[in-house]
Order: sequence, then structure tokens, then C-alpha cells
Amino acid sequence: MGSAAHIAEHPASRHATVADIHTPADAIHRAETNNLVSPRFYTTDYAYMNRIDIEPVRAEWDLIQAEYEGDNNHDHFQRDAAFAAEAAGALERLDDDARREFLDFLVTSLTSEFSGCVLYNEIRQKVDNPEIKQLMTWLVRDESRHAGFINATLRDFGLGVNLNELRRNKAYTYFHPKYILYATYLSEKIGYARYITIFRHLEKHPDKRFHPIFRWFERWCNDEFRHGESFALIMRANPKLLEGANLWLIRFFLLAVYATMYVRDHTRPALKKALGLDPTEYDYRVFEITSKIARQVYPVELDTDNPAFRAGLDRLHRRAEAFYAAKEAGGLLGKLRQAWHGARAFGTFARLYFVPVKRHALPAQVRVQPVW
Ligand SMILES: [Fe+2]
Ligand SMILES: [Fe+2]
Repeated sequence: MGSAAHIAEHPASRHATVADIHTPADAIHRAETNNLVSPRFYTTDYAYMNRIDIEPVRAEWDLIQAEYEGDNNHDHFQRDAAFAAEAAGALERLDDDARREFLDFLVTSLTSEFSGCVLYNEIRQKVDNPEIKQLMTWLVRDESRHAGFINATLRDFGLGVNLNELRRNKAYTYFHPKYILYATYLSEKIGYARYITIFRHLEKHPDKRFHPIFRWFERWCNDEFRHGESFALIMRANPKLLEGANLWLIRFFLLAVYATMYVRDHTRPALKKALGLDPTEYDYRVFEITSKIARQVYPVELDTDNPAFRAGLDRLHRRAEAFYAAKEAGGLLGKLRQAWHGARAFGTFARLYFVPVKRHALPAQVRVQPVW
């Protein structure tokens, strides 16, 4: 916490969503910071987790457990011989804005991978439900590999994050298990869509691959895809989670996840530019993939092609920019402006929430393949 004060020490900061990271202390500070768009650490109600029954999806569940056991990525998260040569000088070749945003991207991605690791590990230790316990064991294995791989790149830059310290110091947010399921499902699937979209783009434009870490994204995102499949099965086994008033919650989580991503990506335009990606095109491609996948579990889908939806997200981004600018300006006037832009952003979010959604029936077979 206390991010604004810290970031204000670096006058080059344009807004509080992208930090200047020059030292390991900056990196861990960034990782510990909680704001509206930063990854968080969660705790939940483990007794509820104990009551989760996966029997209705037993056949599909057993198949996916066998996949985890087979562990086809066991040898993936090791650097190859070419890594060091490709990574050498990568930071220096980026312009100042792209460098800041790339480091910020690495630290927030590390935080988000590690956030999964911490949550899954907590659940693993605290539940008795054997199915959930076993699933969490696999997830912790995968997420700790992911976090470790990003941290190795940060260490190359002298910016490694002490993950034990982060686990101890970062504030935890309590989330009802139902919300954990909605949110982790989405974050796994959107994580897949983000990684695969970058990977496919760089396959076509290898000259834009300014760091070797992007070569790892294809097999990496298959882990995230599989994690999402497990949460889809849990929700489909408990269909009450996917009907009635819960549909309003699902709509909320869809919008919160999409809107957060949109605002965050649009406050990091230089990184996308270095990769040769247009943030708006990139985000809508990621939404399209995520929405298609999510038909396996959510009977409602945000209409991301609706002009009202697109205009709303754009407005939300502009209001977030104005909010952060006011926050940095400081003083009484800055505070008033901040409140004003904050309220307007809230209003924009509320209007987006009521843009009509698409509805469909759920497929008999839950699982889908990562074909993107
Ligand atoms: Fe991960
Ligand atoms: Fe994951």
C-alpha cells in the first residue's frame, strides 16, 4: 500500500498504474501495491470448498487429472542455449517508455502468477476435499513454475522479487468461494487468450520479439487453459452457480475483468507498440477468444462488438486517465477532480453493465480445446 506516495517520488511517472522500477525495492513495492487494476492476493472460505462435489462431471474430471499427472510441460520452464544471447541488451534496445512498461508488465505478471500460487496453496493446505486438494497440488506446481520463470528474467535485470517476503507482506483480500470460482476461471482463460495472442502475433512478426520470454508463451498458456478447464468443470458440476441471480454476478465479473484489462493495456501503450500490437485490436481479439471459450460455462456473454460497449470502454479508459492525472496533480483541487473523475468512471462502468448481453444454452460436453 502507499503506492501513490512512492510513485510520486519519480517525476517521470505518467500515472500510478505504471511504476518506475529501478531497484529490487521498487520491484517488490510494485508487487505489494494494491490498486483497482493491480493483481491481488486472496483468501476464502475453505469449508465451502470442502462441500464442492465434482461427481456430475466425473468422467471429464478424471481425464483432466490424468493430463495434470502426465505433466507435458515438466521440461518447459527451463531456458535454452539461445536465451541468454537473445536477452542480452534487450532492455537497452527499448525506448524509455517501453522499458518502464516492460518491467512493470513483468512485475505485475509475476504478481499475478504468484497470486494464483498463494491462493491455490492456501486452499490445498486447508481443504479436506480430496478432489480439490489434488487439483490444487497440480495448480501450485504449474503456477510456481510460471512465477519462477518470470522472476529469473527479473533477476537478469537485477530486479528479482523475494517471493517469500511478498507472501508475508502483501495485503490479502477475502473473496467468497463463489467469487473465487468466477474470477479465477476468467483470469485463467483470459491469461491463455493474452499469451496466445501475443505468441501468434510474434510468430508472424519475429523481428518484434524483443525478448526471448515470449517464445515460452505457447506451451505456457496451455497450462492456463487447462487450469481454466478445471474451474469450468467445478462450476458445471454445481449448476446453481450458473443460473438465476448468479447471472448478474457473472456479468459483473466478466465486465470487471474485461474493463480492468482494457484500462491497464491502454495505460501501457508503449509496450504494445514495441511488440507491434495495437492495444485496442489486441484487447478485442483477447475478448473474442475468451468469450468463445467461456460459452462452455457461462450462459451469458458480453456483447463486445456492440458500439455502445466499445464507446463505454473507451470512455472508461479516458476517465481512468483523468483520475490518475488528478491524483498526481495532488492538492485540494486534485482531490476534487479525482473524486469527480472517479464518480464518472463509476457511472460509465454502471452503464456498461447494462449493455444487453448475449445468451445461449450450455453445451452437454464441458471441455473445449485450446485451438487459438
Ligand atoms: Fe500461470
Ligand atoms: Fe494458471
